[in-house]
Amino acid sequence: MRICILGATGLVGRESITLIRRAWPKAEIIGFASRRKRLEHDGETFDVLGAPELELEGAPTGDLALVALDDEHSKRYVPRLVELGYKVVDKSNTYRMDPDVPLVSAGVNCGVVSEDTSLVANPNCTTIPFTMAVAPLAHAFGLASVAISSYQAISGAGIAPLDSFLEDNRTAYAEPNRLGVQLDPTKYAGNTVPHSGKTDESGFSSEERKLMNESRKILDAAALRVSAQCCRVPVAVGHFMNVWLELKRAAPLSEIEAALARTEAAPYLKVSPGPVGEGLTALDCVHNRDQALAGRLRLDPRDASGKTVCLTIAGDNLRLGAATNAIRIASRWFESADAELQAPGNMPAK
Ligand SMILES: NC(=O)c1ccc[n+]([C@@H]2O[C@H](COP(=O)([O-])OP(=O)(O)OC[C@H]3O[C@@H](n4cnc5c(N)ncnc54)[C@H](OP(=O)(O)O)[C@@H]3O)[C@@H](O)[C@H]2O)c1
Repeated sequence: MRICILGATGLVGRESITLIRRAWPKAEIIGFASRRKRLEHDGETFDVLGAPELELEGAPTGDLALVALDDEHSKRYVPRLVELGYKVVDKSNTYRMDPDVPLVSAGVNCGVVSEDTSLVANPNCTTIPFTMAVAPLAHAFGLASVAISSYQAISGAGIAPLDSFLEDNRTAYAEPNRLGVQLDPTKYAGNTVPHSGKTDESGFSSEERKLMNESRKILDAAALRVSAQCCRVPVAVGHFMNVWLELKRAAPLSEIEAALARTEAAPYLKVSPGPVGEGLTALDCVHNRDQALAGRLRLDPRDASGKTVCLTIAGDNLRLGAATNAIRIASRWFESADAELQAPGNMPAK
């Protein structure tokens, strides 16, 4: 098996290498980046090729391509990869809302990937843990509306902002400057900033629109009333969400918790029992990199009908929210040697 990673030198691309070694240990990996370079990762050295080499005659062909590029470069290379015969999982925003391209959150709607599918879109890094936690509740109780407030890590913006954030933090707080006032208020270190990128006429940022629109597509609930507010917090890795779910049917919290804990309904979800939220932090998800974490179930006191539930969800944005989900999608075509990375309902091996 030959696997190409486009964006191999980026944060998500590097995680993909680690996961490929678990899922398909014998696979040959060819990495691509903006230009030829060497990449050291997990004790291995890779001679990474320049992505434009894929456009040449005689470009390498293979079985699977995992694309971790920005939107513009995904648009440029994905059609070429399909033409070259690869099964492709694209992690950018480019194809997610394309009605002809399945958008898949593993364990929620993997069944839409068939042997005939050649391109699948990987959802946004908040959409994946959100849909994993909410799908079993939508199935068991029905979903009327949702509100989400997200607190997202800096690594969601890519390797360059993360490195600059880490560097700024090294000099951040010193006696007597406990407030960090010398830091730049437009940057991430010591700061919480709105996700104001690409805000459209609706007033919602692109991050908020992705979470809302992608969730409707994955949950197959075009009419779902959903509202999201997103911000970035000074955390390196790990996205955190507070969620208010209005169910169609009221149920005791114990029943709701039991629905989340059913492995067949939520195969990649780790549930934290009770309202306290122990084991439910941004760093906890970096210790459980391939699982979504959910818990802090409470009834919303504003809703006398008892149908609105408060819930907290967290997930490692680089792994569960990106690389892991893509590997699980690809496991529908190529069986994974690691059961944790295998999507349910795998198609029989050819
Ligand atoms: N970070 C996350 O939490 C996350 C989660 C879900 C989805 N995603 C999506 O995944 C994609 C990658 O994100 P990331 O965080 O891994 O980004 P990143 O760390 O910034 O890495 C970007 C990658 O793109 C490559 N690249 C840059 N310019 C290129 C060009 N002109 N031609 C070919 N390759 C080029 C870079 O190679 P060089 O080393 O040569 O610059 C690098 O390998 C994005 O679409 C992002 O939205 C990210």
